[in-house]
This record gives sequence, C-alpha cells and structure tokens, in this order.
Amino acid sequence: MKLWGGRFTKPTAPELEQLGSSIEFDRRLGSEDVRVNRVYARELHAVGILDAEELEAIQRGLDVVEQKLQEQPLLLDEDIHTAVERLLGEVLGEGSPTAAKLPTGRSRNDLAVTEFRAYLASAITALSEKIGTLQSTLVAKARTHKRTLLPGYTHMRRGQPVVFAQYLLAYFWSFERDKARLAAARERCRELAMGAGALAGNPFGIDRLRMAEELGLERVMPNSIDAVSSRDHILEFLSAAAILGTHFSRMSEDLILWSSAEFGFVSFDDAYATGSSIMPQKQNPDGCELTRGKTGRLIGDLVSLLTTVKGIATGYQRDLQEDKEPAFDALDTLDLLLPVMEGTIRTLTVHEDKMAEALSSDLLATDLAEYLVRKGVAFRSAHGIVGQVLAFAAEKGIGPESLPLDDLRNFSDIFDEDVATAWDFRASVERRDIEGGVSLRAIEEQLERAERAMSPDG
Ligand code: ARG
Repeated sequence: MKLWGGRFTKPTAPELEQLGSSIEFDRRLGSEDVRVNRVYARELHAVGILDAEELEAIQRGLDVVEQKLQEQPLLLDEDIHTAVERLLGEVLGEGSPTAAKLPTGRSRNDLAVTEFRAYLASAITALSEKIGTLQSTLVAKARTHKRTLLPGYTHMRRGQPVVFAQYLLAYFWSFERDKARLAAARERCRELAMGAGALAGNPFGIDRLRMAEELGLERVMPNSIDAVSSRDHILEFLSAAAILGTHFSRMSEDLILWSSAEFGFVSFDDAYATGSSIMPQKQNPDGCELTRGKTGRLIGDLVSLLTTVKGIATGYQRDLQEDKEPAFDALDTLDLLLPVMEGTIRTLTVHEDKMAEALSSDLLATDLAEYLVRKGVAFRSAHGIVGQVLAFAAEKGIGPESLPLDDLRNFSDIFDEDVATAWDFRASVERRDIEGGVSLRAIEEQLERAERAMSPDG
C-alpha cells in the first residue's frame, strides 16, 4: 500500500518501488510507531479532531495493530508507517473515516524521525548496560592481577615493568568514556521532532510539550525544519559506536598478540577460540580477530551516514531514509561483539610465569637513571650515563645488573652499593605510587574508583 497517489496516472515502476522500500529494516520501529501514533491520537482528541469515541476506537485498533505487526509479513508496504496506517484501517473497517483522521497534521517526516529517536534512545540504554557488564568483568579480572608483573610496552618494545591489572583497567576507563559519549548521544536523541509536520509545523495547536512528556522525551525541538532535517543525533551515536569499536579492536589486538606462542602471556578458553581446518594444532583467536574486523563496519556506518547528509539541501530529502540501516548495523554489530569480548576476558587464562620470564633488566633502565636522580644528578645527564652503561654491558655480553660496582663507577662515581635496589621489578612498580600509577596501593585505589564509577550513583 501507498499513502499517496491521487495525482498519479500510472503505477510506480516496480524497480523504483523496490529501491524505495524500507519496510524490511524499518519494521523494527513498529512498536515505536504505534506508541507515537497513540500519543498523537490523544493530541488530536485534545484539539477536537477526534471525538472521545474515535480516540477510543483508534487506541483499541492500535492494540490489534501491535499484535498484527508481530504476526504478519509486511513486505507489501512501502515502510512501517504505511504498514501501521494500513493495518489500522483494516482493523477499524475498510474505508474507516476514523482511521483516516489519524494522519491529520503530521507527516512521515516528523513521525519517522520521532520514533527513530525514541528507538535509538532505548537501544543505547541497553547497549550501555552490556558495556557495564564487560567493565565489571574487567574489574573482577584486574582484582586477581593486582600484583602480576609484566613488561609494559611502548612502540611495541619493552618499556617499564607494570602490573597486568593496569592494562585491564586501561580498557575499563576507555569504556567508561564510551558510555559517557553514548549517554550524550542518547540525550540528544531525546528531543521531540513530532509537531514539525512535513516541515512547517502542525496547524492544529497540538501540545508538543505534553507529547514529549508522554513519550518520555526531554525536550521539544525548537525549529520544524531542523526537526525533520537533522540527523546529527544519529551521527553522534555512530561516532560513539565507532570509537567504542576502536577500543575493542585495540584490546583484541593486544590479546591476539599476547596469546601467540611468542608471547604466551595469555591463552583463550576453547569456548572463545576456534580451530583450523587443516592444521590440527591451531587454536585461533577468531573472536578477537572478528571484533577487530567488525570495527571496520562500525567506522563504515559512521562514514556512510556522514556522506549521506553532507550534500543534501536542508529539509527532508528521501536520502535521509538511509539514516536507519547504519544505526541498526552498528547496534547489531555491537550486540554481537560485546558478549564475545566479555566472555573472552572472563575466561582468559593469564600466564604469570610467562609474563615474569619476559621481565628483562633493560626494563629497569629508567629506574637506574632515577636512582642517580635521587642522588642529585640531573635527569638528562643520568639518562646519558645509563645509556653508556647499557652499551658497555651489551658489549661485554652481560646484563647491566651483572656489572660490578667498579665498572659502574667508571661512568659515574655517584653509583654506590645501594644500586642493587634499582634492579628490582617489584620495587620499580611500588615506586610508582601515585594516583593512576602501578603500585599496589595505587591499583587498589583505582579499583575502588572504578567500582564507584560503576555504582548507580557513581
Ligand atoms: N521511510 C521514510 C524515511 O525513513 C519515511 C519518510 C518518508 N517521507 C516522505 N516524504 N517520503 O525517511
């Protein structure tokens, strides 16, 4: 069915009909469409377009429509708004004048964007809860690795000793920001477009503020053209989703690398890994690889809608129908990824022995320079001295920690017996006893802060 046609002398070419059909994906908006229609019907009653009986008939009719939406294939309708209007007409009786009054003063332009805003707002809430579950898992895992030492990397080279909890919590805080970005996008969605009509506003004096309240929205959009034209709220969601994807992707990359035989820091539970069809020995990190791969889609979804909106004239253009699939795709993709990431982390085996084996004394070069600093040497000079010490040790083919004190003194007479204290990985992390640092106390403080952030009033 179509909601227009009076001036047309020919049926639409089937290929155009196929191009324009959105029912296959916007049918997801069925319940929201019905909800917005209910609230709108009450407004039409308030301004005298529908009498009490008609309103009652429409509300009861919409109950049946809601049921039918679950049951019936809708593929003959152009879009979900058409489907709901058709079904209501059928329920109230062929050619029902009551059903025919419902579209008064509104357009699919304000209807579509209103219900999609409401849909997205609740989808974001559900998404954020799943991110919260992953965060709890990260915190629980971090609690068991507050003391687990491993090399910390910069430029993919060993840098300084850290504890594994610090990596896990690094992801926690990224996700915390992702949730804040999603919450901001959600707030942006919670604005009422309805009442904008096609573009110039509703002429029957409906109460937009009341509609917003009844739909659980925060504000009324102040400009009718902006209301039907803008899609930046979806772009904000897609941007937050794409950024979230990059965090998943980097975390996945770490895990893929660390689970390789070369590192051996972690291994995946068999439930969160796959095998090879030819090489029987393989346990492949497909969950992490697919997560990294699907981040491409998330970025693509954002770029797709940015590209759609960039050149179109202000006001509703049919191009804007392309706003839904990228958002649905991003939501579906994240729905797939989140439980896999959560399960992967929850069941991850951490090989503390392998991490400890990877601690080489060069990781303490900075500590050695800091040893000199504590004795009054300027850091840049200390850096130079330690560099020379390392080169000397390398030339002798031994680790710098094995150099006798006399050799060290050739580079600086500040070196003393107590230099031995510099060669201690645990002591190195304990010296980083600052908010955000890797000492046990700092990690415990950070864990508490993470718990607070997760608590409902955090
Ligand atoms: N399916 C359309 C969309 O999602 C609904 C609005 C159609 N409006 C119109 N004037 N053709 O954008």
